Amino acid sequence: MKISAVNNFKYPNYAFSISSQRKQSPSFSSLKLKNDENNYSDTCFYRDIDTLDCAATLLKKTFPKGTDILDFASSNGEEAISLYSLLVNTSNNKYKIHCFDTSDRAVELGKKGIYTVFYPMSYDYLLLPEFSMLDDPNTREIKSKFYSVMEETKKPSYEINDINYLCQLERSPYFKIKYYKLKDEHKDKIEINKGNINNIDKVLPNKKVGAVLFRNAMYIETGNSYANGFSFNEDLNVNKKEIIEKIVDKVYEKLLPGGLFILGDIEKDHIYIADNHVNDKDKIFVSDYCTFIYKNSPLWEALSKDDRFEPVLYKNVDASVILGKEQKVPTIWRKK
Ligand SMILES: C[S@@+](CC[C@H](N)C(=O)[O-])C[C@H]1O[C@@H](n2cnc3c(N)ncnc32)[C@H](O)[C@@H]1O
Repeated sequence: MKISAVNNFKYPNYAFSISSQRKQSPSFSSLKLKNDENNYSDTCFYRDIDTLDCAATLLKKTFPKGTDILDFASSNGEEAISLYSLLVNTSNNKYKIHCFDTSDRAVELGKKGIYTVFYPMSYDYLLLPEFSMLDDPNTREIKSKFYSVMEETKKPSYEINDINYLCQLERSPYFKIKYYKLKDEHKDKIEINKGNINNIDKVLPNKKVGAVLFRNAMYIETGNSYANGFSFNEDLNVNKKEIIEKIVDKVYEKLLPGGLFILGDIEKDHIYIADNHVNDKDKIFVSDYCTFIYKNSPLWEALSKDDRFEPVLYKNVDASVILGKEQKVPTIWRKK
């Protein structure tokens, strides 16, 4: 599929937008698990706010009376809380987000329901009241959404983040950490359980949903795990196209007409190292990394097949690892 459709959606340029976040620090996570607990569950509040904000606007328009939302790869639920805060206002509490993740540790923390926001080394530190002197109008708006559903709570008796990591951050004279939980009236609107997107057809049987999220996780599912350059450890026998097609087919079946499939905005979720199942004519050589990649993104191809989905939001993403340049990637697809 040639990616050239125009994104007509106008979204505010929040201080939390990924491009500005990237300038601020080399890490982003407000959840930092120990490596042996799960190396991949990093997340933060309002990660890729542009996509979440556009999704919330479209969902409110398409499903004004509310809808069920399935958030796969939810980690501990910070993503779901962020989307939920953009969807609800006090008189309009009709959306329910069912979160699923394959990580025991992330699900355990999500079920306990206490979240950290800290400074430095996170993108969402602007949520901390201490930084209000840095607020621009967009940041103030996000903060007001966050505090409309979350409230501060005391430090829990259990550890949330990797303690060694936090000990290092504490050396900074500017170190700050706060703990938050959902306000009681919103608690039953976000539910977190263990689950795998490959079993999406077994979730909420006989019910279709308004949105499915699977952000920053397709690379894990397909083993497309190059980071900071090509990984020579990749298992090239994995058929990435087949894995992606199966997921996309199931997501399509689960969505209501007009429903959204919401994806991440990192390069490796969209651009794929060619595996051994790709024909020569369907791959191109990237000399800087001495490797082949799929000529056409298997994810975009699966989504545009048979005219089932249309892309509704594009983002400019830093694709410097493999392509050495910016790339427009569609992060929201709508079921036709
Ligand atoms: C990098 S985190 C992304 C969290 C959140 N979506 C975000 O973008 O901030 C990836 C998460 O995907 C989960 N995951 C990987 N494969 C999955 C699958 N097949 N189904 C559900 N969750 C999965 C991992 O356990 C991990 O917590």
